[in-house]
Amino acid sequence: MSYRVAVLVSGSGSNLQALLTAQVCGELGAEVVLVVSDRADAYGLQRALQHNVAAAFVPLQRPRHMATRTAWEQRLAAVISAFTPDLVVLSGFMRVLSAAFLTRFPGQVINQHPALLPDDGGDMVCTSDGRVIPTLRGAHVVADALRLGLTVTGCTIHYATPLVDNGPVLARVEVPILPDDTPESLHERIKVEERRMIVEVVRDLAQQSAARQERR
Ligand code: GRF
Repeated sequence: MSYRVAVLVSGSGSNLQALLTAQVCGELGAEVVLVVSDRADAYGLQRALQHNVAAAFVPLQRPRHMATRTAWEQRLAAVISAFTPDLVVLSGFMRVLSAAFLTRFPGQVINQHPALLPDDGGDMVCTSDGRVIPTLRGAHVVADALRLGLTVTGCTIHYATPLVDNGPVLARVEVPILPDDTPESLHERIKVEERRMIVEVVRDLAQQSAARQERR
């Protein structure tokens, strides 16, 4: 039985593309069955359609209005549930999902974050060369790393929890910051690592799931 993956995107979806390409090449061990976006113009939706993968646009109007937001999350969860995914990947999905949403997919939602996150959920991260740097969370972490004058940042894949950019870490890679880096150049180098890492993590999770099923 295939390991079914739903991917949520708000933008370009180059990480999604890495998953789709790995799938086409037979290197993913999983099947992307659905791509969902909160934005109609997210290029990730086009990428899905180019690969004959179902694509859904679930718009959120009035994001600050609690009742609207709750109803949107329920629609989003219903669309995802209809595709019975084993895994939901938040891949550049620029919305925070509530505990109510996450409990519908227990232990199944992972998030990609373009900075280093610590194992203990704290405010500091240790780098491989023994430095301690601040944990960067939120939507502007690439620019934040430059603004703070850091010389190293990176990317992390972790299980999503109701706390933003916080949860058990699955994989983490460091990326050096170069003296002439701009937010764009740095983010592009981080994304090179992210694309490799997301394919590895999805493949690993699919293999672990298959091994569990064999043992049953
Ligand atoms: C990635 O850097 C991811 O970590 C962040 O959004 C970016 C998505 O890039 N959350 P793309 O849309 O896959 O190109």
